Amino acid sequence: MTRPVPFDSTTLRPRLPSPLEEVTDERFTRHGVRLLLKRDDLIHPELIGNKWRKLVPNLEAAAGRPVVTFGGAYSNHLRATAAAGRLLGLPTIGVVRGDELADRPLNPSLARCAADGMRLRFVDRATYRRKTDPGTLAVVLRDADAEDAYVVPEGGSNAAAVRGCRALGEELRDHADAVALACGTGGTLAGLAAGLGPGRRALGIPVLRGGFLGDGIRALQTEAFGGPVGDWQLDERFHFGGYARTTPALEEFARDFEGRHGLPVERLYVAKSLYALVVLAEEGAFPRGTRLAAVVTGAPFTP
Ligand SMILES: Cc1ncc(COP(=O)(O)O)c(C=O)c1O
Repeated sequence: MTRPVPFDSTTLRPRLPSPLEEVTDERFTRHGVRLLLKRDDLIHPELIGNKWRKLVPNLEAAAGRPVVTFGGAYSNHLRATAAAGRLLGLPTIGVVRGDELADRPLNPSLARCAADGMRLRFVDRATYRRKTDPGTLAVVLRDADAEDAYVVPEGGSNAAAVRGCRALGEELRDHADAVALACGTGGTLAGLAAGLGPGRRALGIPVLRGGFLGDGIRALQTEAFGGPVGDWQLDERFHFGGYARTTPALEEFARDFEGRHGLPVERLYVAKSLYALVVLAEEGAFPRGTRLAAVVTGAPFTP
């Protein structure tokens, strides 16, 4: 039997509400748009950005049980879960996509997970794809010796996480007319849109190819709030070939943005959303006078 441990997230001293910084960038100002950076990357040095907002409610729900979660070999979510485990004294188990990785040296991201005490289990890709099927999940948990564990889905997006992200919208509702952010599972957007309230719109930039995200977001909102909520939309044009894909132009854009505004730009998600906003401003997507908040949902990983 595991004993429940009390968990008070304020002991981790998060910086909340996260800072909101207005920056001057002529690519926006010439269209009459004010650009604000919502610095969720500054909430906590290890539970960075949307990881704080999504993980903390789940760690509370875990009530001291070991936490099992899922991710690819470079998953930000796995690293954040492992760090949370170390900080809170919770056992963590990471189920990693790709059993071929088991025989190779750990990459820097997985090495960090292991150093933080996460037990890593590598599973073949077919099993990994079926991980939400109850029978497959039961086998994975049994093989990991984690049948009593609290399960957090891949990317950390479940109803508790989506409700946790509502606070992001609540922090912004009086300061921004439109809010944009990058989407993986869409969990952060699902919560943000609910917290923003009437008259505000949320814009998601999917970093994966596929065009399937809208249904996923509606399902997450239904699970979290009983139905679709808030004014949100997706612009599917800025995935740059898919997850973790990039181009020289995107890399140059990110480096230039860092130089102009003095913040580190995470490349897998944040860079694509900022690039999208520059294009959208140029296309006239935002009426003059719009206060446009870009959510900095993460920071680059430095091994
Ligand atoms: C830095 C960063 N931004 C955005 C996202 C996308 O979040 P979501 O899966 O909630 O759409 C992720 C993935 O969790 C991320 O690591």
